[in-house]
Amino acid sequence: MTTPDDVRARMGGREIRRIIYSAEVIRERVAAMGREITEAYPADEDVLVLGLLKGSFIFVADLVREIRRPLHVDFLMAASYGAGTVSSGHVRLVHDPEAELAGRHVILVEDIIDSGTTLNKLVPLLRERGPKSLDLCALLHKRIAPELVLDARWVGFDAPREFLVGYGLDHGEDYRHLPFIASL
Ligand code: IMP
Ligand code: MG
Repeated sequence: MTTPDDVRARMGGREIRRIIYSAEVIRERVAAMGREITEAYPADEDVLVLGLLKGSFIFVADLVREIRRPLHVDFLMAASYGAGTVSSGHVRLVHDPEAELAGRHVILVEDIIDSGTTLNKLVPLLRERGPKSLDLCALLHKRIAPELVLDARWVGFDAPREFLVGYGLDHGEDYRHLPFIASL
């Protein structure tokens, strides 16, 4: 259980509006997603879990430990030009995965789908590399993206349309380490 004291200590005195998903609720949901992913692929085929940095780092770490089959893990990092909480519409790859995608089942893992801009730019780039399949797993989905070139096959939670932090999600690089997800 996260006590109010814990919250204060981790936030450095800054306020959160409310906790949206507690560590316990997240753990249960991630375990269920891991079970679904375990069932989704033939046992003898290659699966690559590809985490989108930085936001997915905690989710990936927890998720892969709930998947009971052989797999590999890699990461890629995309950046929008310009900072801030509003997506500028331009996305570039800052870190390219070393892993070969061709002929493998690739699961792209996102922390949150908001406008969908990041995914709409990334998915075509990844498809060009000829994966056997490409599926999307998002912890949170705000369901506001007007169109997605690939919608998520697995979603942890349909998130409220608020700015969320914690469990990997940041605001100006703060709050990624929170074990829960909160609204600022
Ligand atoms: P999109 O391109 O608008 O879908 O946004 C994708 C990225 O923006 C996510 O991977 C997050 O890094 C960030 N983002 C979007 N919404 C939030 C939020 O509510 N809190 C923190 N980061 C967010
Ligand atoms: Mg961010």
